[in-house]
Amino acid sequence: QEKILIGAPVDSGQRQPGCLMGPAAYRVAGIARALQDLGHPVSDRGDVAMDPLPEVRSENPAIDQLPQTVAWTAALSRAVEAVLKDGGMPITLGGDHSLALGTVAGAAKYADEQGRPLFLLWLDAHSDFHTPRTTTSGNLHGTPVAYIAGRDGFEAFPAFPAPLPAERICLFGIRSVDPAEHAALQQHDIAINDMRVLDEQGIVAPLTAFLNRVAEAGGMLHVSLDVDFLDPSIAPAVGTTVPGGTTFREAHLVMERLCDSGLVTSLDLVELNPFLDERGRTAKLMVDLVASLMGRKVFDRPTRSYS
Ligand code: ARG
Ligand code: MN
Ligand code: MN
Ligand code: MN
Repeated sequence: QEKILIGAPVDSGQRQPGCLMGPAAYRVAGIARALQDLGHPVSDRGDVAMDPLPEVRSENPAIDQLPQTVAWTAALSRAVEAVLKDGGMPITLGGDHSLALGTVAGAAKYADEQGRPLFLLWLDAHSDFHTPRTTTSGNLHGTPVAYIAGRDGFEAFPAFPAPLPAERICLFGIRSVDPAEHAALQQHDIAINDMRVLDEQGIVAPLTAFLNRVAEAGGMLHVSLDVDFLDPSIAPAVGTTVPGGTTFREAHLVMERLCDSGLVTSLDLVELNPFLDERGRTAKLMVDLVASLMGRKVFDRPTRSYS
């Protein structure tokens, strides 16, 4: 199946400049080549252009760059839906996490047309469960999960197609939740695998439980990977680092398990800020994680031990 790269130089979801260089950094780090080396056909559709800016305003004066984010949402929704219709797997190269307002909308539209349920795996330090009404930072990258779950407060945005019921959403790696998000999450039965859960249970059991659900439902699976899912010591190039993130091996193991499941139908790589990177190490790590998701492994047969 063809892997389709969609550049999404989205920078409007937060205030620290730099995420717009993300797509270029992934290309320099060799994402296309890494996928080709694994035997996948790859095509790079270049960078998506933002739609013309709509005239919209929010009742919350704190909101930053609303027209830009609404415009990106529309453009990226169409781009992802088009790739899925062509039978490809969209890999969106961000760009900040507000791009998931659009990419998941596109995937949801396609899934709805196919009569298949869409599931969402959110790999992130943050729950991103604010609405434009509840956010105090005004940064719209903190809102996509709420949009996808169908919470109201998104008036300026196109209505989310077929909002995902809570049982189809899994948050993974969480360790920073604002009070308003915390209160809202109490009202929704979303699976929250915060870092304490992963410390105590490891990543395999909680991930397998979710993947079994997806498989039993014959679902499509969108994976949204925020750089800050990773511990800042291995992934410094992100504006919203939070200590206590996943290790190198935990993150690879998530990707390897996702690969084995064969369930992933679309992917976002978000929040990489190359201006904050150290000799490209975060961009390279993200490319290596994608390679693990797409089949790179040390051995493709069971290995033997002497126990
Ligand atoms: N909860 C904080 C906020 O709303 C941080 C959100 C960080 N989101 C992200 N995609 N990195 O501002
Ligand atoms: Mn995020
Ligand atoms: Mn985050
Ligand atoms: Mn923020």
